[in-house]
Amino acid sequence: MHNPWKGKSLLSLADHSPEDIRYLLDLSHAVKREKRGGLVSRRFEGKTIALIFEKRSTRTRCAFETAFGEEGGHPVFLSTQDIQLGAKESIEDTARVLGRMFDAIEFRGFKQETVEALARYSGVPVYNGLTDIDHPTQVLADLMTVEEEFGRLKGEKLVFVGDGRNNVARALMIGCAKMGVDYFVVSPNSLFPDGEILARCRAFAEASGAKIALSEDPEEGLPGAGAVYTDVWVSMGEEAKSGERMRLLAPYQVNAALMGKTGRADTIFLHCLPAVKGNEVTAEVIDGPASRAWVEAENRKHTIKALMVASLSLPTS
Ligand code: CP
Ligand code: NVA
Repeated sequence: MHNPWKGKSLLSLADHSPEDIRYLLDLSHAVKREKRGGLVSRRFEGKTIALIFEKRSTRTRCAFETAFGEEGGHPVFLSTQDIQLGAKESIEDTARVLGRMFDAIEFRGFKQETVEALARYSGVPVYNGLTDIDHPTQVLADLMTVEEEFGRLKGEKLVFVGDGRNNVARALMIGCAKMGVDYFVVSPNSLFPDGEILARCRAFAEASGAKIALSEDPEEGLPGAGAVYTDVWVSMGEEAKSGERMRLLAPYQVNAALMGKTGRADTIFLHCLPAVKGNEVTAEVIDGPASRAWVEAENRKHTIKALMVASLSLPTS
C-alpha cells in the first residue's frame, strides 16, 4: 500500500488529508495488535531520534522513548536546560546540526514557529509533541480511542468541555473536522476557539460532513455525545491565569450530572491527561466505568509508533 507519510513531518493535522490520517490510524491499530500479540520487531534498529522538551511531559516523552527504544532505536532526551537551543544558538543552526545526527526529531515547547523551523532546516521528519496552539499526536490517540469504542468516526459526536481555546481543544477540532466527527465546544464565550482556527476547521468540516458548534450551555451541547472530553483549566505556561480560569470554568466541571446530560448510556469520557481531579473532572468520572482516559494514554504509544514507522518508511508488518 502507498505510504503517504514517507519523509513527512507532523506539525499539525491541518497539513494532512483525511486519507493520510486514516493511513496512520489503520497502522496504529495494526501496531497495537502486534504489541498485544507479543510481536515486537526491530524496525528502529540503527536509528536515532532527538526528543526536545521545553515543557514537562510524562505520556509524550514515554510514548516516544518506549516505542522507539523497544524496537531497537536510540532515543536521546534533550531538555532545553541542557542544550543550546534558543539560548546560545538559533533554532536554524540547531536544526541543521540535529538533522545530520538524527533520523527524526520530536519537539515539545511553546511556539509553533519553533517546530516549523526545526522541520524546515533539519531535513528530517519532525513531530510536534505539543506547542501552545497544537497537539497533533494527542489527537491521533483520541481518534483511535473513539474508533476502538464505537467502530467508526464519521457521525460520532465529541463534546469538548472546558478551555475551548487551548492547544488540545484546537487540535481536536482540526482532527474531528478532518475525519467527520461532530465537534462541539461547551465553554464560556471568552474561551471559545478563535475565529481563524474556527474558519479553517469549518472548511475541513464541509469536506468531511462534520458539524462544528459552540455553546456556553451544557444543556445545549451535550445531548447525543458519544465522547465527552476535557483538559486542564490552566495549560502549561498560563499559570498566571489560574484564578480567573477557576472562576470561569467552575460551572463546566465534568461530573456525573454533566455526563448524564448526554442522554446516552454508552458515552465515554476522555482526557489527554495530566488531570486535576476535583477541577475539570471529578474522580468519580475519570476513575469510573465511562472513562477511557487510561487506554487513551496507552494509545499515545501505538499512534506515535505508527507515525514514526510511516514517516521513516519502515516495514508496516
Ligand atoms: N497528554 C500529554 O501530552 O501528556 P504529557 O504532558 O504527560 O506528555
Ligand atoms: N493543555 C495542556 C495539555 C497537556 C498535555 C497543556 O498545554 O498544559
